[in-house]
Amino acid sequence: MSNTSKIWGGRFSDNVNEFVQSFTASIGFDKRLAPADIEGSKQHSRMLVNIGVLTKAEGEAILLGLDQVLEEITVGTFHWSEELEDVHMNIESRLIELVGDTGRKLHTGRSRNDQVATDVRLWLSREIDEILRLIYQCQQSIVELAEPHTATIMPGFTHLQSAQPITFAHHLLAWFEMLERDRSRLLDCQERVKVSPLGSAALAGTSFDIDREFTRAQLGFTEVSRNSLDAVSDRDFAIEFLSSASLIMVHLSRWSEELVYWSSSPVRMVELPDAYCTGSSIMPQKKNPDIPELVRGKAGRVIGNLTSLLVLMKGQPLAYNRDNQEDKEPLFDTVDTVSDCLRAFAGMIPEIRPNVERMLDLASEGHPTATDLADWLVRKDVPFRDSHRISGQLVALAESKGCNLADLALSEMREISGVFDESVYEVLELENSVKSRSHVGGTAPETVATEIARIQKLLLNRYSDLREAT
Ligand code: ARG
Repeated sequence: MSNTSKIWGGRFSDNVNEFVQSFTASIGFDKRLAPADIEGSKQHSRMLVNIGVLTKAEGEAILLGLDQVLEEITVGTFHWSEELEDVHMNIESRLIELVGDTGRKLHTGRSRNDQVATDVRLWLSREIDEILRLIYQCQQSIVELAEPHTATIMPGFTHLQSAQPITFAHHLLAWFEMLERDRSRLLDCQERVKVSPLGSAALAGTSFDIDREFTRAQLGFTEVSRNSLDAVSDRDFAIEFLSSASLIMVHLSRWSEELVYWSSSPVRMVELPDAYCTGSSIMPQKKNPDIPELVRGKAGRVIGNLTSLLVLMKGQPLAYNRDNQEDKEPLFDTVDTVSDCLRAFAGMIPEIRPNVERMLDLASEGHPTATDLADWLVRKDVPFRDSHRISGQLVALAESKGCNLADLALSEMREISGVFDESVYEVLELENSVKSRSHVGGTAPETVATEIARIQKLLLNRYSDLREAT
């Protein structure tokens, strides 16, 4: 196709340079927006009928033609052409082939600039719904794994050093909380995604008496944009999404790191399901935690995508610039990556097998009840700074004897402080340590069980909301 015969070819006299044609084409990736593009076009043409720019018959011909185009795309018979540059012009050209000159009227009162912004927002809002569903499934999986383990004791870490005993369910519910924030960030971001730019046209709006409210409502947007220049060039909504997605990946990556550590041969606190691991081509005994490792690795691409879009936007003057075509690949890649990683975790989490005995053994190492000992002294009216020192001295004594705090004789303890009596042994028990942390947010089995019940109710209500929405 020569430049002169292209849709925009009126003012051109020279032919297209083939390299430039393929350099500028986006059809290789933006065809993914086709269903959203067709939906946007259908509502735009209905609006043009309503305001009398198209006749009813013309509107109907366009709607039938667009349905036919969608059908061809869905069954795979549609011929995508690089010469037609992008998804918008591929679809419009095919429409014109199918319905003739009437199809040439569809683009009245709009531009590819507001069209592409509409398509991306429509597409992204639906993808966010899907990611919210996957987050919901992951949260369900976490609670399912946690429920039988409210009293299972494991070492709690700071600096990856055994710090204080905690319950396994309590640790898992920390993951749940991360996803709760991710969900709330996505919902917040979705509010700004669901704004209709349609009608902004190229940059200044259109001279036709368009009904923006009609297309907004038909397309399920919650507001219309208030400034045409901003609406065609704004990609904040995509950046906000990438930033929320990056945090989801940071969370999944942190859990991955924990799973890799917990399942490592020297630690063995959990066993990962065979279906989510692979073997080694040379070492027959190996079972490698590939899924968590890959998820940890994929966090890098999503964070990279966020950086790409921030840099893409930072130098752009108003209004639309072709730079914006570069927003799509990082956005598409992020949606695919985050969705796949959430899907992998939702499937893997309920299959994780905790090694309860091993967890307890590891939790007993390293004097994890030294803080409980110091707290006990405080209750005997010893100031905390002194009780901290006394408890430290007992730790040093136990270390030098190669035993646990609970193995020290009362007489040995009393040499360090006369305050000690038999009742101190109770607080040295791991079970009593976790039980005592029974305030909201604490690790006590009863508290965690109450928390699980609260979460299950929350998820149940949310499930009915999700079902209503679909
Ligand atoms: N393919 C373009 C994009 O993704 C569509 C808009 C092009 N507009 C233009 N005036 N060249 O941004």
